[in-house]
Amino acid sequence: MEEPKCEWTERIAVDYVKGILQPKPTCDTWDQIWDFQARPDDLLICTYPKAGTTWTQEIVDLILNDGDVDRTQRAPTHVRFPFIEWIIPSIGSGLEQANAMPSPQTLKTHPPFQLLPPSFVEKNCKIIYVARNPKDNLVSYYHFHRMNKALPAPGTWEEYFESFLTGKVCWGSWHDHVKGWWEARDQHRILYLFYEDLKTILAPSLIEFDTPILDKIVHHSSFDVMKQNPMANYTVVPAEVMDHSVSPFMRKGTVGDWRNHFTVAQNERFDEDYQRKMAGTSLTFQF
Ligand code: A3P
Repeated sequence: MEEPKCEWTERIAVDYVKGILQPKPTCDTWDQIWDFQARPDDLLICTYPKAGTTWTQEIVDLILNDGDVDRTQRAPTHVRFPFIEWIIPSIGSGLEQANAMPSPQTLKTHPPFQLLPPSFVEKNCKIIYVARNPKDNLVSYYHFHRMNKALPAPGTWEEYFESFLTGKVCWGSWHDHVKGWWEARDQHRILYLFYEDLKTILAPSLIEFDTPILDKIVHHSSFDVMKQNPMANYTVVPAEVMDHSVSPFMRKGTVGDWRNHFTVAQNERFDEDYQRKMAGTSLTFQF
């Protein structure tokens, strides 16, 4: 594979919160994030980064607005769904946006379950968790690190591969994240979804709904349409934060792209590590 280059030298610092790596601005405001006061009618979308958050946000917003794109295109994704632990100096604070949002709120977050602000559980909020197979998740996260200056530089593909396996990436270990939420799902109001299932269920060629609203929801949440939608593709974020010329946010949107990245040796190492870390859980992934 051709070695991608990242031209940026200026990058955000990171630190640990309770053993989980986070961008430094998140660490610095952690107490306020932890104390976030959810409201009972909040709807929270939670994922490990790059598992299909933006796609799920678009589906949910289309559902809430009966498929009316004039309403879903009222603002970019990060405004329609404040990202509660995201602080970018040139853009703002997700926490402040969330606190200012009228009810019912639609929110986004990435923490492992143990770092979820407790009020979401106390208020019995609706939570949608989306998980993606780890190999594609890794590849997508790697390319996101390349284009997003609000994350540390990924290093080479080989270096990033190791960082991901050892959980030394922002929001921590993929394995712990998906397992923690899986174990929590039955005790709380959590709908646990899979990216690969959404791909199958919402494949435009397979689906034919008998209502125009559902047709609109499927159409406007498709990868090709979202890629062209400035309110869903993150192109409104300043280029000094997200540089889509390095790698577009709406990159490929496919299942199995890991095959274009993993060497045979990396795949064997990944599988061995996966078997060990996922032993004993009923959670399984297709890849
Ligand atoms: P790729 O990098 O593999 O293309 P998140 O929103 O959690 O950051 O996840 C981003 C990933 O979801 C990217 O994956 C992106 O292309 C993909 N994605 C976004 N919208 C999608 C859609 N409508 N259908 C399928 N994948 C989508």
